[in-house]
Amino acid sequence: MLDWDHIFATRSSRMRASEIRELLKLLDRPDIISFAGGIPDPELFPDVEFKDAYAEIFSGPAVSAALQYSVSEGYKPLREWLAKQMEKIGIPAGVDNIFITSGSQQGLDYIGKLFLSPNDTALVTWPTYLGALQAFNAYEPHYDQLNPGGNRTPAAYAEAAKAAGGRVKFAYLSADFSNPTGETVDLAGRERVLDLAEELDIAVIEDAAYQSLRYDGEAIPPILALEIARKGDINHTRTVYCGSFSKTLAPGLRVGWVCASETVIRKLVLLKQAADLHSSTINQMAICTVAERGFDAQVAKIHRVYKHRRSAMLAALEKYMPAGVTWTKPEGGMFVWVTLPKGMDGTALLAKSLETAKVAFVPGRAFFADGSGENTLRLSFSCANDKMIEEGIRRLGDLVRGEAAALAA
Ligand SMILES: Cc1ncc(COP(=O)(O)O)c(C=O)c1O
Repeated sequence: MLDWDHIFATRSSRMRASEIRELLKLLDRPDIISFAGGIPDPELFPDVEFKDAYAEIFSGPAVSAALQYSVSEGYKPLREWLAKQMEKIGIPAGVDNIFITSGSQQGLDYIGKLFLSPNDTALVTWPTYLGALQAFNAYEPHYDQLNPGGNRTPAAYAEAAKAAGGRVKFAYLSADFSNPTGETVDLAGRERVLDLAEELDIAVIEDAAYQSLRYDGEAIPPILALEIARKGDINHTRTVYCGSFSKTLAPGLRVGWVCASETVIRKLVLLKQAADLHSSTINQMAICTVAERGFDAQVAKIHRVYKHRRSAMLAALEKYMPAGVTWTKPEGGMFVWVTLPKGMDGTALLAKSLETAKVAFVPGRAFFADGSGENTLRLSFSCANDKMIEEGIRRLGDLVRGEAAALAA
């Protein structure tokens, strides 16, 4: 076989299939109860609404535009709907502050491309969204730990970045119900991230993929809203907000957006022209129709189901997990983050769990830029019914109890 490694660009060396992904290939087995996939429940997709929307596009005058090339910024009526939507959450934005992407994942890739030169530093939380690390890795950055509750000085970050051969370019975080922990950054933490970004003169990347999925508690203003309150105008801000329809309407259409200052949006548009010209116009039109007709009702439907599953999972953890195991209590999103007793390894536990307990989850190590977090794991409740949750967490609790006892012996 040809040895491609010296032909591939050096950036490709960080693109590797993980051992965890190999283990998770086993998930399709019907005997496994899976809390691994962080995906929406397909039962909740507004499929009839989408069927009607596509039928209307195909039977009306919009069909030519739907099938034709289009502008890189995105479908204007959708950008207008999004501008109004952003205003509702405290972000006064014009259409020129909104840019449509093929899922927010594409937004993250473009952000990596726009901001990171090799050896620059990206600040990310420990743990963070694995897909963000994958998107940024291609641009060969270093990572440093962003801790919205911490007190590391801007100078300390700047020095570490300089020693790594570049400078800090942005702080990336998911402030609401993050993937993987389900946790939310409080108001003071958001303000601290903004202070840090101002001192370091860097961008803030606000990943809002789960922001609409709050089941209880008070909404906290998005970081971009807080910065607009400081600066008076979105075009003076340094926060780049990445939104997604994947968790509310459906991920298969691949429609997300970026909301930011016009200067950043104009650059992103140029990147898109080079990458894929524009996102699927017909999918943007369908999303726009479905969103205009019933976004709030769809979100309310999802809330009812996921809130119930979240509460069922927290109750089952309480019932079945042995002492020494802790977990987050998310007010929204799709995930609960479990910390096992020190010395236990999530990846080894997954291998054993698939074999004996027949329960799947994602070992937490995958979400740490520094490869730490051995004794953590991510559970997703979005696709699990009551029976799966009760039985799956019972089996997992038994397995963890046995492993903890063996460790203590
Ligand atoms: C935190 C976070 N950001 C972004 C994404 C990407 O979503 P999409 O590209 O479907 O909008 C995901 C998907 O799981 C996610 O969990």
